[in-house]
Amino acid sequence: MPRSSRGDRPQTGPSSPAALEAAERNPFTPGFGLVPRVLALQGTPVEDFAAALAGRRGAGERSVLIAGARGVGKTVLLGQLREVAARAGWRTLVLHTSSASMVEELRGGAVDLLREVDPEAEQMRATSAEGGAFGVRAGADVEFVDRYAGEKVPLGRLLERLAALLTRDGGGLLVSVDEVQSADHAQLREVTQHLQDLIGAGHGAGFLAAGIRTGVDELLAHPGTTFLRRAHRIDISSVDVGTAAEVIRQTVADTSRSITPEAAVRAGEISHGYPYLIQVIGAEAWARAGDASTIEIEDVDAARAATIDAMVVNVHGPALRDVTGRRMDYLQAMLEDEGPSAVGDVAARLGLDTRAAGVHRARLIGEELLQASGHGRVALALPYLREALERVRETGSTRRAAAPAQVTRPVRRNG
Ligand SMILES: Nc1ncnc2c1ncn2[C@@H]1O[C@H](COP(=O)(O)OP(=O)(O)OP(=O)(O)O)[C@@H](O)[C@H]1O
Ligand SMILES: [Mg+2]
Repeated sequence: MPRSSRGDRPQTGPSSPAALEAAERNPFTPGFGLVPRVLALQGTPVEDFAAALAGRRGAGERSVLIAGARGVGKTVLLGQLREVAARAGWRTLVLHTSSASMVEELRGGAVDLLREVDPEAEQMRATSAEGGAFGVRAGADVEFVDRYAGEKVPLGRLLERLAALLTRDGGGLLVSVDEVQSADHAQLREVTQHLQDLIGAGHGAGFLAAGIRTGVDELLAHPGTTFLRRAHRIDISSVDVGTAAEVIRQTVADTSRSITPEAAVRAGEISHGYPYLIQVIGAEAWARAGDASTIEIEDVDAARAATIDAMVVNVHGPALRDVTGRRMDYLQAMLEDEGPSAVGDVAARLGLDTRAAGVHRARLIGEELLQASGHGRVALALPYLREALERVRETGSTRRAAAPAQVTRPVRRNG
């Protein structure tokens, strides 16, 4: 329903409070890695981690492996853990799987941090001819040199000193890696080996990692990942729809606007409790409310199509790009059913025997595009995958359809 249909709204002038409110920033965060104003979390992972850092839980819980589907909030949770660690006086070195070498990145970060926290980072050195490296004689010319400038110290020793200093001050050292499923195995192994050494030596140390569940499981199947296998694992998934509605309601309640209970519930339903969608539907409904002080159910309904589009383009698009041949046929064959499909039916539609079809099905489950749904049944995983597949069927890709042309009457002077 267009906004103009709300005849009961008073018209406001440009300097009215309502017009000023209209300029208020959209409080939702429909992007990746953006910390939302209100978090929906299962359990208390942040508090548990804080307790582990403080020694109130096993030190083993200071190493955390977050796993989950795309857009479910892994990066945000990783950031929350770093945040709570910083507040507890812990320092974190953030490594990137895209860097040329995570090990070198670790060294660089450790050196930078040592320069900051090591009171002996600068050493005096006599510059006169007889002045050896150490022992400064009175009267000799003296200069300060950076103890860590040469980078000749083995990484293990650097980390050992850093962790010792941080632990002495009541904190410790964390190393954090996002998108861990893409990490170079040898590099990751070296990094985690160092952490294991620090922990073994009794220092405050831990490792934080996050990644796509399937990629993480594949990673853990490799030898040399024992450390990660023992990390405290947090599997994140969608929240229930009621919680999603509450997140949306609270996010709006923190602003000068409000949202009706029905609108919040409808938005929660559209989100299916999937964190990225919570933010998208919230943002889109907020935008559609224009300068109204209350977001109503028609704003939410009007935002539905754009929300699905965002999901199709930003989440399913990248995932489906790698799905070709028989696997795409499998997914397409499921569109005939309104709900979950019987695996036998899908195999028949594809003209495959159940075993051959099972191979494709297993891979699709591994890719988190399908999920088993009761005996002999399989369902599309993640909200709006059906819509994404329909778009592939109709247009050959998940790209956004061109906006439909608008038909309007020309402006005329009289009527
Ligand atoms: N706990 C949460 N409650 C509500 N919204 C959240 C929560 N966590 C993340 N979001 C929102 O969900 C979206 C995705 O978050 P994030 O980037 O952390 O996901 P991700 O799992 O790291 O995704 P990817 O697999 O693409 O890296 C963002 O819009 C973010 O604001
Ligand atoms: Mg992420």
